[in-house]
Amino acid sequence: MIVAEGLHKRFGDTRALRGLDLRVPAGTVCGVLGPNGAGKTTAVRILATLSDPDSGHARIAGHDVVREADRVRGLIGLAGQYAAVDEKLTGRDNLRMFGRLHHLSRAAARRRADELLERFGLAAAADRLVSGYSGGMRRRLDLIASLIVRPRVLFLDEPTTGLDPRSRGEIWDAVRALAGDGTTVLLTTQYLEEADRLADDIAVVDHGRVIATGAPDALKATIGDRLDVVLEDPALGDRAAAVLSALAGAAAEAEEDRLSVAVRGGRVRLADVVRELDRAGVAAADVALRRPTLDEVFLRLTDETPKEAAR
Ligand SMILES: Nc1ncnc2c1ncn2[C@@H]1O[C@H](COP(=O)(O)OP(=O)(O)O)[C@@H](O)[C@H]1O
Ligand SMILES: [Mg+2]
Repeated sequence: MIVAEGLHKRFGDTRALRGLDLRVPAGTVCGVLGPNGAGKTTAVRILATLSDPDSGHARIAGHDVVREADRVRGLIGLAGQYAAVDEKLTGRDNLRMFGRLHHLSRAAARRRADELLERFGLAAAADRLVSGYSGGMRRRLDLIASLIVRPRVLFLDEPTTGLDPRSRGEIWDAVRALAGDGTTVLLTTQYLEEADRLADDIAVVDHGRVIATGAPDALKATIGDRLDVVLEDPALGDRAAAVLSALAGAAAEAEEDRLSVAVRGGRVRLADVVRELDRAGVAAADVALRRPTLDEVFLRLTDETPKEAAR
């Protein structure tokens, strides 16, 4: 549904995009994950026809975003980090106005606004001025506004940045509901947890290009699990580290009474860890295997980006 091939975009000396490729199948949620300045907004603006690439191509449902921009605009919705709603209107009036801007009849705009306010939990606040809304409510209203014309593809550019956890959860629920309807969603985020929770596939973006793609679990698997051990006696740290390093085939890191080592693909069993530590005379207060967090995945991936690519 969304295809980007070799997108380049330069602003003066800044190379915002340096060959960005992306493919998002219909009906899936793609999480574009990257730090500030990675090029996420630049990519979304190009895909949403708000800006042209210097080179490369992008298509939405097979339509070129430059040559068939009008056609593409009829298929997409866009909601962003900076809510575009009018403070001096009520939530309901904002939505009716968006509907009218999208050429719905007065009655249709009214119906659609009511339906969406109900569906996304803003009905009770619908007749209050937006100036009195919380940040989360504004962002939700902005998201609803982008749904007025039932887009097949929805772009959400950092929809939860700066929101408190509760508001973030509300946006997550809304995104899940949309995905459940079959809307294709491209969501940018700096939050690893957010991509992990919402996305079918994640594209990790750094310095204007995609450095890794995959389902959240697959990305996590690329760096393996971690084995964490807490010792009863921190003085035995060196001895324990030697045992763990031998088992995992990688150097164990020690910090006070805690040791941690990366383990690849099911190579270590907890029972063996406990037995080998015991044999070495080391008592463990806790032994656990855990999947890496996406933060760790991201650090690992950006670490491995060749210097050449990081310029
Ligand atoms: N209109 C612009 N003029 C100049 N530089 C820009 C402009 N838009 C983006 N940039 C630069 O391009 C890079 C990528 O920005 P952006 O796409 O906004 O990243 P992200 O959304 O991932 O934070 C940054 O270095 C940013 O400063
Ligand atoms: Mg941005």
